[in-house]
Amino acid sequence: MSNVVLGVGGGIAAYKGAEILRRFSESGHRVRVVPTAAALKFVGAPTWEALSGQPVSTDVFTSVPEVPHVSIGQSADLVVVAPATADLLAKAAHGLADDLLTNTLLTARCPIVMAPAMHTEMWEHAATQANVATLRSRGVIVLEPAVGRLTGKDTGKGRLPDPGEVVQAALAVLARDEARTNDLGDVRVLISAGGTREYLDPVRYLGNRSSGRQGIAIAQAAVSRGAKVTLVAANVSVPVPAGVDVVRVETTAELHDAMLERAGAADVVVMAAAPADFRPAAVAATKIKKDDAGSVPQVTLVQNPDILRDLVERRSGAAAPLIVGFAAETGDDSAGVLDHARAKLARKGCDFLVLNDVSGGKAFDRADNEVVVLGRDGSVAEVPYGPKVAVAHSIWDTVAQRLDNG
Ligand code: CTP
Repeated sequence: MSNVVLGVGGGIAAYKGAEILRRFSESGHRVRVVPTAAALKFVGAPTWEALSGQPVSTDVFTSVPEVPHVSIGQSADLVVVAPATADLLAKAAHGLADDLLTNTLLTARCPIVMAPAMHTEMWEHAATQANVATLRSRGVIVLEPAVGRLTGKDTGKGRLPDPGEVVQAALAVLARDEARTNDLGDVRVLISAGGTREYLDPVRYLGNRSSGRQGIAIAQAAVSRGAKVTLVAANVSVPVPAGVDVVRVETTAELHDAMLERAGAADVVVMAAAPADFRPAAVAATKIKKDDAGSVPQVTLVQNPDILRDLVERRSGAAAPLIVGFAAETGDDSAGVLDHARAKLARKGCDFLVLNDVSGGKAFDRADNEVVVLGRDGSVAEVPYGPKVAVAHSIWDTVAQRLDNG
């Protein structure tokens, strides 16, 4: 039996929440209903209390000794918000916490599923779409609204999906979360993320477009599954999640040393960073000046170490870590992206290669991604387009299975 929190927003579809609640109860789960004050204008507290067998309140000042604004979220295994109004999505995206439900959304560390319902114009508004994108990038599952009859005479996109569909989607999330709970318990993970900088002088460098988002999402997903995570971060432009040990580096040489020094103590090493293949042969000690004659400095490049290959070459013994590499590839006249990736996997000798198709600049500094995880044993796992955190979880599903199988 899981603890399900059913958040109910103030929309006409609130009445369908009663059916959602009944289905969760019939599936054997304990349901605590947390409506907003506006939701109670549509369906009253006695209905929710009678159906759930639990007290109902909307503010944080009821039953204060139980500290409900924290305890309900903390003890939840799943939070489902149905209907999620435009207002609730906005509050959740911005971290507002002015009632019991929004407090619960901030304190919950379990999966959150939101089922929006509103008029088409509100759903399509740039503000709502931006809020949905923010929530999805954090791993919240925001269902697509259904198309059909809306309040009043109009029809369009914005209906709450059928209660059966909401419950089915939510139970699938719960089952997947249970399988992932602590499946990386005490696994020691070393992850690199970001793009290196190769200095020309004290102020200028050669860099690349990597933001570090995917590597950081991999760290976040691993922590949530119980791993002990060290992140070697090269100039990342997004915040590092709590619970991750961070080592900051700038250049490929620093990244190389930081990774090789720590790889021996890791069970899994993930090379998600984009190290520069080349660096200037010399770094000027002072800023390079231009002169009036218009002469242009010539930059000679030398090759950087291949960190992934060094990690593979230097691992040894029965406790050697599993090594996961990344490949940002574009297809060309000689071969498609998959062929390039298979060749790279063989060349680098790692256990898995996560293939990112970056044709046309895809995948850089975006919240969403789509990858294929190739295994050295020939396995192929396609991870569909989705938030980088969801992609990270799918990558870990594949790696965790390998760890399980020894
Ligand atoms: N990598 C590395 N050290 C480098 C360059 C890349 O460890 N100097 C790692 C990346 O972190 C990634 C993998 O190697 O996990 C593949 O990176 P990619 O840039 O696609 O490969 P390259 O070896 O640079 O191959 P290419 O010739 O296609 O650029």
